[in-house]
Amino acid sequence: MKAQIEQTVASVVTQYPSAIPLFEGLKIDYCCGGNKSLKEACAKAGVSPEKVIGSLESILAVTPQDENWNDKSLSELVNFLLEKHHVYTREQLALLDKLSEKVARVHGQNHPELLKVRELFQVMAEDLLQHLMKEERVAFPYLLALEASALGKRKEEPFFSFETFQSQPQRVLMADHEEVGEQLRELRRLTGDFNPPTDACVTFQAFYRAFVELEEDLYRHIHLENNVLFPMAEKLATVKG
Ligand SMILES: [Fe+2]
Ligand SMILES: [Fe+2]
Repeated sequence: MKAQIEQTVASVVTQYPSAIPLFEGLKIDYCCGGNKSLKEACAKAGVSPEKVIGSLESILAVTPQDENWNDKSLSELVNFLLEKHHVYTREQLALLDKLSEKVARVHGQNHPELLKVRELFQVMAEDLLQHLMKEERVAFPYLLALEASALGKRKEEPFFSFETFQSQPQRVLMADHEEVGEQLRELRRLTGDFNPPTDACVTFQAFYRAFVELEEDLYRHIHLENNVLFPMAEKLATVKG
């Protein structure tokens, strides 16, 4: 995170859309008044710029991406997925919901693609929220029980066999992952790879940037589940025999 005090509010928001809720909470105008520097905007809003920079830093603290999961346990990975990716996905969907509603309402007439983007976003968000719930209510509790019984920390068998897990919940989740990939590709097609038009205001630019951020995070999230978590579970099930 490298937001500078002399940087304009608009440029912070277009670079880091996740800063929007902070600015809104502080009544810092980032859209029409976004050409002010962070310093000026804070003075106008009566808040300390150092504090704002501090809050920005904690919001934008980057998650270590190259964590080595080979020497970590399944429960550590599940906790990481829940605390980092599931929390982030919900927050970013809430932000995108507000932004997509606003830009469709304000700019939909000149940019009719925004109405389609809003529609597709709503379908994707609904699917994703249900997907997170399937993982949190079925797949993750099952995998944690599988790990506990493989480590001898749990006497009773997991709720169902690992074969059943692979042929049902895991298959459904992997199909959901494919589906979200399709939806993101369709969104890229509709938005010219999330490139805002030249007349796009700050909110419009931030909206597309927020999509790119969600997309990046989702790809990492999906990779961890498909290529690390599920194979890790398979190993535990095999050890257990
Ligand atoms: Fe997940
Ligand atoms: Fe998932």
